[in-house]
Amino acid sequence: MAIEIRGTGKAVPANRVSNGDLARKIDTSDEWIRSHTGIGARHFADEGTACSDLALEAAREALAMTGGWPGGDREGRDLAAGEAAKTLDLIVLATAGADFCGCPSTACVVQDGLGARQAAAMDITAGCTGFVYGLETAAGLLLAGKTRKRALVIGSELLSRLTNWEDRGTCVLFGDGAGAVVLEKTGAPVEGPGRRGLVGSILGADGAGAEHLMIRRGGTRNPFKAGETLGLPPHIEMNGQAVYNFAVKAFTDTCRRLMAEDGSGIDDIALIVPHQANARIVQAAGKRLGIPEEKFFLNIGEYANTSAASIPIALDELNRAGRLKRGDLVMTVAFGGGLTFGGNLIVW
Ligand code: COA
Repeated sequence: MAIEIRGTGKAVPANRVSNGDLARKIDTSDEWIRSHTGIGARHFADEGTACSDLALEAAREALAMTGGWPGGDREGRDLAAGEAAKTLDLIVLATAGADFCGCPSTACVVQDGLGARQAAAMDITAGCTGFVYGLETAAGLLLAGKTRKRALVIGSELLSRLTNWEDRGTCVLFGDGAGAVVLEKTGAPVEGPGRRGLVGSILGADGAGAEHLMIRRGGTRNPFKAGETLGLPPHIEMNGQAVYNFAVKAFTDTCRRLMAEDGSGIDDIALIVPHQANARIVQAAGKRLGIPEEKFFLNIGEYANTSAASIPIALDELNRAGRLKRGDLVMTVAFGGGLTFGGNLIVW
């Protein structure tokens, strides 16, 4: 049984904010941001938009790309794209900025919005590695359940809501957006010639490094209390240098392990789709691995770091541009809050 990607989608808010726009409000410059990160712009959602709104938009695009389900639902009825959501068995949504704190999950809000009545729904908290975790989790659950066939995996983030605008070292890095993929369990092989779908994953964590990338406020450790003046804001706090060092090592190790476990070499891989946190991290890891820059897809220049959404947004861009051909071996690799890291190998 193979777990194949049937559709991709994304949602990017219309409000585009360039480095120059930011430099008019805070003490920074286009030159600093570009030279330190590769970021040129980011997109911010308006006040009325929540995580599930972006997630729903991306999910609908991904479902529409499947063209529905010729051959049908459990009763064998052919379904148009709008009806396809009703045949989903599972929705996994990765985010660091859920609609609500704890309950309900954002995945449940999306399940309701799609009318995906037979789908189980849950959120994943793995920082910027959330989509990589989500893909492996959804694939595992599809394979474990006899009657489960289709899943939606979404990464959706509104990091503009979690940003400390007084901290120029972090606020220039992040953007809002969502990406989604539709997975289907098929009879294709997962080994040998003609193999298809998700063929390998690595998931890892280093909880000892949690303090380097953290939102301290709002959970049960430091809850909000009625009437208080906020001392500690619900914002991302980051030790940039520590995260940078962790990221380069985690990125390098994950790529090596994914290729070794699969028995593949770099020449077998058509494209690497990394988490878009900082172009310098990708360049540093690429150098250590001896992988040419052209193997990596980067769109950080336009979207900045959209955390768990960055890989599915990139996959959708590539897919719609026709840059992912059937049979291509594609590698994802990510790192983020937790600290977490991981990657997937997908035969497109
Ligand atoms: N504009 C202008 N100057 C800035 C700035 C900004 N937005 N942010 C920081 N600076 C200044 C600092 O104040 C410092 O000045 P000083 O030397 O006078 O004190 C200088 O730039 C260098 O800061 P430093 O923190 O040493 O820069 P850096 O080369 O480490 O780059 C990051 C900073 C954040 C870009 C880098 O550490 C990084 O990318 N880390 C990983 C972050 C990440 O990927 N997080 C998400 C993980 S999913």
